[in-house]
Amino acid sequence: MSEIKLARIATISEFPDQMVTLRGWVHNKRSSGKIKFLMLRDGSGIIQGVLVKGECEDQTFEQFDQLTQETSVEVTGKVRKEPRSKLGYELTVFNIKAHQIAAEYPISNKEHGVEFLMENRHLWIRSQRQWAALRVRSEIFFSIQDFFRKRGFIRFDPPILTPTSCEGTSTLFSTPYFDEKAYLTQSGQLYGEAGAFAFGNIYTFGPTFRAEKSKTRKHLTEFWMVEPEMAFAKLPDVMDLGEAFITHIIKHCLENCQAELTILERNQKELESIVAPFPRISYDEALKILEKRGLGLPWGEDFGAPHESALGEEFGKPVFVHHFPSKIKAFYFKQADTEDGPGVDHDGKYALGADLIAPFGYGEIIGGGQREDNYEVLERRIKEHGLNQADYQWYLDLRRFGSVPHAGFGLGIERTVAWVTGVEHVRETIPFPRMLNHLKP
Ligand code: 4AD
Ligand code: MG
Repeated sequence: MSEIKLARIATISEFPDQMVTLRGWVHNKRSSGKIKFLMLRDGSGIIQGVLVKGECEDQTFEQFDQLTQETSVEVTGKVRKEPRSKLGYELTVFNIKAHQIAAEYPISNKEHGVEFLMENRHLWIRSQRQWAALRVRSEIFFSIQDFFRKRGFIRFDPPILTPTSCEGTSTLFSTPYFDEKAYLTQSGQLYGEAGAFAFGNIYTFGPTFRAEKSKTRKHLTEFWMVEPEMAFAKLPDVMDLGEAFITHIIKHCLENCQAELTILERNQKELESIVAPFPRISYDEALKILEKRGLGLPWGEDFGAPHESALGEEFGKPVFVHHFPSKIKAFYFKQADTEDGPGVDHDGKYALGADLIAPFGYGEIIGGGQREDNYEVLERRIKEHGLNQADYQWYLDLRRFGSVPHAGFGLGIERTVAWVTGVEHVRETIPFPRMLNHLKP
């Protein structure tokens, strides 16, 4: 017998007509008399193994019936081209060595309730759709790092334990920190601004936390955010960068996640249509569109899910909404008196912010804008928001030592993965979701 090579299913095409050993788990199986079929998954893909009496070891053929779903195995056999299979290859099995015969597996091919699946998340991630969505997530991480590296942005890691809030005090998780109190970070932005003044262009990338009381398909209490921050940049730069960033991610997924998007039955035509430029409308223009669609809002109110969905529908593309009423935005936004006016050094009606709303009901995936860069104005804003100035003195300092216009945004990873994969709920786009009333496993 020729030499046996260790192989993985994803790269099985490199071994035509060769003897290989695959290591994985029994995904499924069936028999019909003298021929038995084993669906083997190894984490990189699924292959069908065929056991033919006489061609496979007698002992393996007889022990086949004991192989339960998710039994861990090493399977040795010959790789054969099989145009009728999705993979294009099959394995003619010679020998199976079982590591551990799995106990009765709770997740079968029948429908299960979400509660049950969430309790068994540690096993659910082995299922095809979950596996596919999490692989797309991994590819999106890669494409993000690739995008920023090519543009000369430095990765800059902010702390997770912080002394202050960034996005309002109502969604803070707190924890004792020796004799003080610390909060889990809501956003790396404030630290990212310090980074931008040290490196020019940076991005932070890590988990962020919000005590969100809302039970929606878009809210997690622990989610990952990537936050670029640029020195010498203004509001339009945020939209330019966001647009290039999103189109880069989509293109990367279309090129590298074919198998996963197929498993997820994602409409790829829809993704292909996501090309620049994205429409850019002001909050005031958005209100007019909403009014026309029967979803009028009083000026100054924030959008809810139905409003975001309607705006997505109106354009069928991601759409930037900019110049929000400043009273609904965080303290750090630069403000302007009028939509056309430049940022001025006193309180204005509008915040120089821009949110990107994804089509098809996935809601806001990017939030960002231009930061207040004037010391006195920022000092006043901190007071107006009832924040303790001493806690923010380091942040104010950035406005004393070479302040410049600067801007950036945050992209939520789970919402982006949900949109790209077409998965309905963000709980399926992170390995172990954390939500209101959900901490296990
Ligand atoms: O709009 P947000 O709150 O913006 C910030 O945190 C800024 N400091 C970012 C910046 O300018 N550097 O959040 C940004 C994005 C949202 O658009 C959304 O995609 C995601 O983070 N996000 C959430 N994702 C899942 N669950 C939640 N509870 C989320 N809250 C925000
Ligand atoms: Mg936001």
